[in-house]
Amino acid sequence: TGLVTLDPGFVNTAACESDITYIDGDAGILRYRGYPIEQLAEKSNFIEVSYLLIYGELPTQQQYAEFAERIKRHTLLHEDLKQFFDGFPRDAHPMPVLSSAVSALSTFYQDSLNPFDKDQVELSTARLLAKLPTIAAYAYKKSVGQPFLYPDNSLGLVENFLRMTFGFPAEPYEVDPVMARALDQLFILHADHEQNCSTSTVRMVGSSEANLFASISAGINALFGPLHGGANSAVLEMLEGIKANGGDVDSFVNRVKNKEPGVRLMGFGHRVYKNYDPRAAIIKKTADEVLTRLGSNDPLLDIALRLEEKALADDYFVDRKLYPNVDFYTGLIYKAMGFPTKFFTVLFALGRLPGWIAHWREMLEDPARKISRPRQVYTGSGERAYAPITER
Ligand code: CMC
Repeated sequence: TGLVTLDPGFVNTAACESDITYIDGDAGILRYRGYPIEQLAEKSNFIEVSYLLIYGELPTQQQYAEFAERIKRHTLLHEDLKQFFDGFPRDAHPMPVLSSAVSALSTFYQDSLNPFDKDQVELSTARLLAKLPTIAAYAYKKSVGQPFLYPDNSLGLVENFLRMTFGFPAEPYEVDPVMARALDQLFILHADHEQNCSTSTVRMVGSSEANLFASISAGINALFGPLHGGANSAVLEMLEGIKANGGDVDSFVNRVKNKEPGVRLMGFGHRVYKNYDPRAAIIKKTADEVLTRLGSNDPLLDIALRLEEKALADDYFVDRKLYPNVDFYTGLIYKAMGFPTKFFTVLFALGRLPGWIAHWREMLEDPARKISRPRQVYTGSGERAYAPITER
């Protein structure tokens, strides 16, 4: 009862308290559990960052070893679950394949569905962290018509994922350490971003006490949209479009400024950052290193650099505080690594998973927790009398 405030998109409304991630959008600061993203990206690794996000502290050596081992024990998919992939068309987008397979985990792993049983939550956490890379690799293999590879648990998480994605059963696969490190770093940079659309979705679904698999599956679907995780694919499509038009950056920027329907500078702008996204600064450097290392001479990089330069000097973008976000350069790196454009958002999901899990767990442990149930401002018709269909 009382006053209901209208706040489309929750621009000013906090739905929860959280200890996980701190963002100062004006200063361009991002910290996980107090640690600056720059330090984590340079010195940590994705498994350690996952532990940090989920448990709140950096692990000791023993905690790290146990956590990594627990994840390794769960990398296999149930054989029956593999048949799922046959049910999808070969040209299916991998994001709905991913969310469907994650949703199906609820049917295969019924011993880890109780959100209030600590051991079951640990089990579903390990299962998700271990199985999502396998599911993602199989979605890729299905799309290119190649055989699935069983996980090789002598490898680290990212190395194993790369091998299952790009390797072949009977052939040794040499993991390029530069590529593996870059992907690990990209996963760290994507690992959490407080109450973004997909994380809020995970919390919202979980607030009904739905299990972790169901909640994460919903988060993956939220991430699919082009204004969120889908932006990394959309950036590459935009750059390809500019290239096809002879590389004319100026005329594209004019179309954006004229607000042609559906034309935005993808990879620019952010709800929270009104300054350079700190992740984009790190990624720009990684893009340069990886593209050089892989010997890629991608003309799209030049277009991206010119586009960024042009936008940062233009009043339209300056006045609206629009800067490159995390997605502006990631697509170029993923492309150089050999991933198809459609697959980029899957990589975002792999990175974001520990953040989703951390938020779901924090939400369930919050004594102030309530089922998510926003209010509305009703603008429809007043009361009217029903007329039978023959009289309308
Ligand atoms: N290109 C052109 N104009 C833009 C852009 C853009 N990328 N982003 C915002 N604007 C304009 C917008 O038209 C509006 O102008 P005006 O006041 O004249 O109407 C003003 O800037 C404010 O934009 P908004 O849409 O109200 O801002 P928002 O906070 O609702 O949207 C956003 C944030 C990320 C959805 C938006 O900036 C956008 O669509 N960016 C492109 C898509 C993208 O790169 N998404 C990835 C975000 S980062 C990673 C992630 O979350 O997944």
